[in-house]
Amino acid sequence: ETSEQKQLVDLHEQAVKLYHHILVNTKMGRPALDYLRKRGVNDDTIETYQLGYAPQTRLLKPFFDQRQIDYQLLRKSGLFSEDQEGHLRDRFIDRVMYPIRNASGQPVAFSGRLVTKNVDLPKYLNSPETELFNKRKILFNLDLARPNIRSKQPALLFEGFMDVISAYQSGIKNGIASMGTSLTEQQIYDIQRITREVIICYDGDAPGQKAIRRAIDAFNQTNHQLNLKVVSIPDGMDPDEFIRHRGADQFKALLEHAQSPIEFELTFLKNQANLKSEAGQAAYISDALKLISSVPSEISRNLYLNHLAEEFEIDKQVLKKQLVPLVRKVV
Ligand code: CTP
Ligand code: MN
Ligand code: MN
Ligand code: MN
Ligand code: MN
Repeated sequence: ETSEQKQLVDLHEQAVKLYHHILVNTKMGRPALDYLRKRGVNDDTIETYQLGYAPQTRLLKPFFDQRQIDYQLLRKSGLFSEDQEGHLRDRFIDRVMYPIRNASGQPVAFSGRLVTKNVDLPKYLNSPETELFNKRKILFNLDLARPNIRSKQPALLFEGFMDVISAYQSGIKNGIASMGTSLTEQQIYDIQRITREVIICYDGDAPGQKAIRRAIDAFNQTNHQLNLKVVSIPDGMDPDEFIRHRGADQFKALLEHAQSPIEFELTFLKNQANLKSEAGQAAYISDALKLISSVPSEISRNLYLNHLAEEFEIDKQVLKKQLVPLVRKVV
């Protein structure tokens, strides 16, 4: 850690405090506070995550100017946008502020969420890449979740901030998030350093289901030693919505019934197939056989074949002959 990095972290710590103060203690923060409460976020959670609010009036720049913070440092922080003449202005306006912390718990970036819906603006705005912040290398909440994951809980991999935060608030404290981007090798490596078990808990909507397949691919492209499982959240909900509507116990029940990646893929393919037509059935069976071929364990392959044979009332030996003699990808 260079002295400049230390100064940048210090700057972020001050910004966290200021935005948090605006949220919890000022009139300006009221709409944002109401918004969070309406979403079921309680005061403890607001404290734990030091949630904040960047108001409509830009005030971070004047705040730092008063403290005579160096212009170059402010520039490098990512907290400001810069115009043609090099003038800095607050980057985040009218957004609920989620501090993003590195694995040591230092704030290194922010994500700001719109309080009022606006189709012209991105729902979440993140800090740009800086000396401190590389989105591909950070997992949201790793600092708080790590001790719990280490004490033999699986890592729960979520899409978003509110999924992690909702889970945490309801006592499920082993959640982390890749913040909407596809999972990187670095993130997989960091997860693997602390656990042998990962449950992917992405959103139950169509984009979430696609993202699960991409995540499985990302895991399979590394030579991970992880026990990987997948949860499907019903009715298109995301984990935050599911926990709020159905409660933490039901979410834990979903975790208990997490599927293997192969089971998930088979279900996914089946949902896409048109099983009413014979051609559709044949296409599904052929896809399923390709998938089953890729399963390393012969015993598991046989179990999947049993299911498939029963389901479509086909002789198992016939199916077995169709197994593609695939060379397995990296396990
Ligand atoms: N995301 C982002 N920029 C966007 C939309 C999403 O960076 N414009 C990231 C955020 O980290 C977000 C995650 O992708 O948390 C998942 O996106 P989505 O499911 O659309 O948002 P939610 O987390 O469900 O957000 P909310 O519940 O606040 O609507
Ligand atoms: Mn406080
Ligand atoms: Mn989503
Ligand atoms: Mn959500
Ligand atoms: Mn979501």
